[in-house]
Amino acid sequence: MSTFLIRILLALLVIAITIPQQSEAESEQWCVADEQTPDDELQGALDWACGKGGANCSRIQEPNQPCFLPNTIKDHASFAFNSYYQTYKHKGGSCYFKGAAMITELDPSHGSCHYEYNL
Ligand SMILES: *[C@@H]1O[C@H](CO)[C@@H](O)[C@H](O)[C@H]1NC(C)=O
Repeated sequence: MSTFLIRILLALLVIAITIPQQSEAESEQWCVADEQTPDDELQGALDWACGKGGANCSRIQEPNQPCFLPNTIKDHASFAFNSYYQTYKHKGGSCYFKGAAMITELDPSHGSCHYEYNL
């Protein structure tokens, strides 16, 4: 191999080593209802989240609130799970709800219904 090629290879090697590895971008994560969970289990988890859990469910509780629609157990549970998770994720709260919830990296916000995300 010519020295020229070797130099190019060395240069590429140096570049490859010194380019900072793309930092594992902290991807945003929301907590939503797992599609697989039956409505009765979601309802139980939703009631807990909005009650003892301490989620802020004001935006799903009245017809004039931005996240009231679609008025389904799954959508309301998703909103409540996420509210709980965003509030408590750094204080020991998890996105679990007995398996009724799951993490998503797709922002579930729609229209004027904003799903909060806290760092
Ligand atoms: C709950 O959310 C509503 C709407 O964003 C807000 O106005 C209210 O202050 C919140 N309540 C609490 C206890 O954080």
